[in-house]
Amino acid sequence: MNYNEAFDTLKKYGQEHVLDYYDELDDSDRKELLRQISMTDFEFAKAGHDNRKAEKRGIITPISVTTVDEINSSKEHYMAVGKDAIAKGKVGAVLLAGGMGTRLGSDKPKGVFDIGITRHVYIFERLIENLMDVVNETGSYVHLFVMTSEKNNTDTIEFFKEKNYFGYPCDYIHFFVQDMAPASDYEGRFLMESKSRIATSPNGNGGWYLSLKKAGYDKIIAGAGIEWLNVFAVDNVLQRIADPCFVGATISNNCVCGSKVIRKVNKDEKVGVLCLEDNHPSIVEYYELTDEMKNAVNEKGEPAYNFGVILNYLFKTEELDRIAAMKLPPHVVEKKIACIDADGNEVNPEEPNGYKYETLILDMIKLLDSCLAYEVVREKEFAPIKNKTGVDSVESARELLKKNGIEL
Ligand code: UTP
Repeated sequence: MNYNEAFDTLKKYGQEHVLDYYDELDDSDRKELLRQISMTDFEFAKAGHDNRKAEKRGIITPISVTTVDEINSSKEHYMAVGKDAIAKGKVGAVLLAGGMGTRLGSDKPKGVFDIGITRHVYIFERLIENLMDVVNETGSYVHLFVMTSEKNNTDTIEFFKEKNYFGYPCDYIHFFVQDMAPASDYEGRFLMESKSRIATSPNGNGGWYLSLKKAGYDKIIAGAGIEWLNVFAVDNVLQRIADPCFVGATISNNCVCGSKVIRKVNKDEKVGVLCLEDNHPSIVEYYELTDEMKNAVNEKGEPAYNFGVILNYLFKTEELDRIAAMKLPPHVVEKKIACIDADGNEVNPEEPNGYKYETLILDMIKLLDSCLAYEVVREKEFAPIKNKTGVDSVESARELLKKNGIEL
């Protein structure tokens, strides 16, 4: 892309200020800036800004959940089906580790965080240990695809190398980088990180399959005969990965997707709730739940919207290919974005100063015809590390790990 082409594109979207310092830049910075402009998804940021008011939802109704008791009564069968699929190499895993972890206040990849007390216990290590459980159970290694972002890719790969992949065979671990999206001020004007660079942030966890394909890993998936991908978040240190019972239950119930869910501790708990929207599986974010929904009860007298998602989904790859070209709605998040001001001085805001735009994996669920809501025992499978202290923090996760017999 040359200067004139870049200028025309920017003009179309009202972002000409991106070239304000072009004349001051040296050749290599000019080239880099033009390259960044050519790679930028202007439509995405524009749609995000235009639609920043909450998206209009369809008719929401409760979803039927396969409870822990129901799972236990079919456990033997589910385990046999799941183990068979895993042993035949039909299941892969995707670790979403491209997030910024802003709430933890660190700019290092979340997975390198050491939650140990008397010994080192890194988050990535915990996840690999959990994955090893299924390897030991089935005698088969599971391909693990790790999504990073431009900001943490090198640190993540180097960390895994340095730790010798925590004993996992490195040819079963594949890293790929997610795309970035421009960040803007409240008027939708792109913020500049420096005179030669638009401020960007990872474009959310919704683009994982497209980024995985872009990296060429669909060939590994096809070559290895992987039919299911278990996608999970980096920050849950009790995460069960490629869980045979979950895999078996999803397959046996003829679903194209499965989602692990937990019983909410109370009706105000801040987790997205799995439900039906216009008869399709869908997730309603906690802030979208109305009082009416929070108080609704089912025929058993139990809360009707009582099961929260924990970002552990199983997707049929065939379905992922079907929905790959469908656009996910951009979500807008208010953030503190480091940038330069009108005089070119660096600003590190203490308060949010603009928006970042992202797509979310939970919006993929709505595009599917079926999703098994699979209940898990929260104390055994849900120890997220989101905050520095308090709820869902390092401290709460440590307590849960200890309860599950993990030495720290
Ligand atoms: P969160 O929603 O907690 O976001 O991520 P985050 O970016 O890690 O943390 P905060 O909100 O800035 O503190 C849920 C999962 O999705 C991944 C995260 O790494 C985590 O596993 N994720 C999130 C990505 O892989 N890419 C993204 O752009 C966003």
